[in-house]
Amino acid sequence: MRYSLCDGWEFTPQWSDEFPTGGGEARAVRLPHTCKELPLHCIDPENYQMLCGYRRTLDVPAGLAGKRLFLQLDGAAHIATVYVNGVEAATHRCGYTAFRVEVTKLVEPGRSNLLAVKLDTSENPSIPPFGFVVDYLTYGGLYREAWLDVRENGYITDIYVTTPTLTTANVKVATDGAPDGAKLEVSILDSAGKTVWAGAAGKANVPDAKPWDTARPDLYRCEARLLAPDGMELDRQEAAFGFRTAQFKADGFYLNGKKTFLRGLNRHQSYPYIGYAAPEALQREDARILKEELGCNAVRTSHYPQSQYFIDECDRLGLLVFTEIPGWQHIGNGAWKDQACQNVREMVLQYRNHPSIILWGVRINESLDDDEFYARTNAITHELDSSRQTSGVRYLEKSSLLEDVYAYNDFSHNGRTPGAKPKKEVTSDMGKALLISECNGHMFPTKPFDTWARRQEQALRHLRVQDAAWKEHAGCFGWCMFDYPTHKDFGSGDRICYHGVMDAFRNPKLAAAAYASQGEGAPVLTVGSSMDIGDYPAGRMGRVYVFSNADEVALYKNGVFVTRLCQNRTSSLPHPPFVVDDTIGELLETQEGFPPEKAKLLRECLLAAGKYGLAGLPVSYKAKMAWCMARYGMKFQDGVDLYGKYVANWGGEATVWRFDGIKDGKTVASVTCRPSAKLHLEVKVSHTSLTEGASYDMAAIRVRILDGNGNPAPYAQLPVSFALSGNAELAGPATVTAEGGMCGAYVRSLGTTGTAALTVHTEQTEDVTINFTIKTKEEEKWS
Ligand code: GAL
Repeated sequence: MRYSLCDGWEFTPQWSDEFPTGGGEARAVRLPHTCKELPLHCIDPENYQMLCGYRRTLDVPAGLAGKRLFLQLDGAAHIATVYVNGVEAATHRCGYTAFRVEVTKLVEPGRSNLLAVKLDTSENPSIPPFGFVVDYLTYGGLYREAWLDVRENGYITDIYVTTPTLTTANVKVATDGAPDGAKLEVSILDSAGKTVWAGAAGKANVPDAKPWDTARPDLYRCEARLLAPDGMELDRQEAAFGFRTAQFKADGFYLNGKKTFLRGLNRHQSYPYIGYAAPEALQREDARILKEELGCNAVRTSHYPQSQYFIDECDRLGLLVFTEIPGWQHIGNGAWKDQACQNVREMVLQYRNHPSIILWGVRINESLDDDEFYARTNAITHELDSSRQTSGVRYLEKSSLLEDVYAYNDFSHNGRTPGAKPKKEVTSDMGKALLISECNGHMFPTKPFDTWARRQEQALRHLRVQDAAWKEHAGCFGWCMFDYPTHKDFGSGDRICYHGVMDAFRNPKLAAAAYASQGEGAPVLTVGSSMDIGDYPAGRMGRVYVFSNADEVALYKNGVFVTRLCQNRTSSLPHPPFVVDDTIGELLETQEGFPPEKAKLLRECLLAAGKYGLAGLPVSYKAKMAWCMARYGMKFQDGVDLYGKYVANWGGEATVWRFDGIKDGKTVASVTCRPSAKLHLEVKVSHTSLTEGASYDMAAIRVRILDGNGNPAPYAQLPVSFALSGNAELAGPATVTAEGGMCGAYVRSLGTTGTAALTVHTEQTEDVTINFTIKTKEEEKWS
């Protein structure tokens, strides 16, 4: 039986030797816990690096004598030493994998025991990822959940399920302390809870199994029972899994035998203010955002294993995962490498049942070759999980390839160069798959408050790389899902890497639409401009792009149809962006009554004048214009008038542009761009029904300031305040700036049931109030 141990902890930022025996001051905290709440910008990593302590009492009823007790900490960043009643029990040296400590012999049943954890949250160079610089913050704390596992003397230690085919499963069950003559019974249950197979551990045939895939991620459960010789149940454990095959071949990735291009993003596990300490709901929400809002079918957990809840949600939603060991460029000494090998073991053993995980990263991200080291990490992985292939992320070309897949950070695209390097220039083995594990990122940092032109270019760059990757890569993981805080050595001076397609609160930048528009879900129609000429040099907007998964996009000017927008038909993308390069379209025919030939000539000249300016018009167009005037008896002023009406609007009344997305002949989305002074708030909440379960619950609030047309108002960088009342608290400040017109907040339940209300306020909008209810879920908690 597993009990949550998230409540009832005390925390001190300053460890002392009497702390594990109850001495010293400490304050009450709940897990997940960050050892220091931090600001959004300009974080000093010194503030979260400390030798701190956590402790809680553990009342063990006398009736538990003879049982086995295990303490499990899911995330302790970075070096944790566990004490029970003042006695040192174990040390774990990785901040990104879980660990279990058997405390059976250290606790005394029938009394109150004291658990304590000494936590070194510093960037201790003796363990990965530390030893040199790292481009992300490595927040400290007991930042994931804690559990107490109570078992019989004989118990099940592990269930491991693989699916060599879509209708067979291999089930391995490991036990410890099982009495002679004990028996194992295994059953496989479908998502409705119906038993579809039962027998002993080993091979299971499930002819009617439904495959797990990205569209229909059908999950099964494998239940194992350990029975004493007399038939009494000693232990019962289960593991979720899916019937799926995953294979990288030279030409790409195959899911269940079907070639599947991996369209993904890299995800860090950080959040504003709370660092890594995000509970279950927030972890799941990120997977949902990736799949549903960003249209991804894959994610890379850069640069470490992430919350089991996040991966569980990837299983549930059908999001493919490339996960990897902690590390960033630097390889340390022998002991450091031994620890990295231990991290490989823990990663594979803790995550190997997840159907969503399709690839193990067993190299330190972007490290140099080290064949001896990486032969070890590969061997460990293959021994513990023969069902998956390995990879390791490189910036090196033609590096030593001990893995099955060449994962390459292709930062070659600079806006003008091709989207990706050809496979033959990158890999050392054409017979194995190549994938782009990162692109863009630092090549084009883009803030939510940058100009439209820059934000549009960020979106286009992501699509250009993806487009190139479709041809011969197995997939492409853009860098990255959201902006993240980093060390002084990186970032924009405020120690933020503005590399995200979303901001740190998961509000979308334009580049988010580049991803979303490739998905087949809800209609996407995002215009890469507000169409305000005043935001562009000399009022020339240049090419505007529309990111959409519609079949066609129709453009209207002041309510009159202009044209259907073009797409690059040679693109490999499922939905290449639409180009607004003709804002005159058929207006000369429909509004001026010009015959087609005259309209065509004039349209060409006027569009060229729009592009180059009247003064800069190339001679060829000047000649064309002169010929046109002569041919159709036009005066110079006629040309000037047409130019004023259809091209240069500076000094004229603002235009209303409308974009209609059409799918299967129907308008499925519409965007109107018209200058607007009327602002309002869009407040999106991850969930309003908070549940006190294994621990507290937390809702993510995403706020955008929109104009009167419902479009983002990126320059409305207003102060936004959050007023919260009721049985919940705010994580982070109550007043923030809407950077690029966007911001966010986090609302945390307080251990009690009831209600809470959050009011979001700015001086220029109507307030929005969100009501929350807080209930409790029946969850086994250790009191
Ligand atoms: C890569 C690195 C990432 C991030 C990215 C920025 O080199 O693996 O962690 O720093 O560059 O573009």
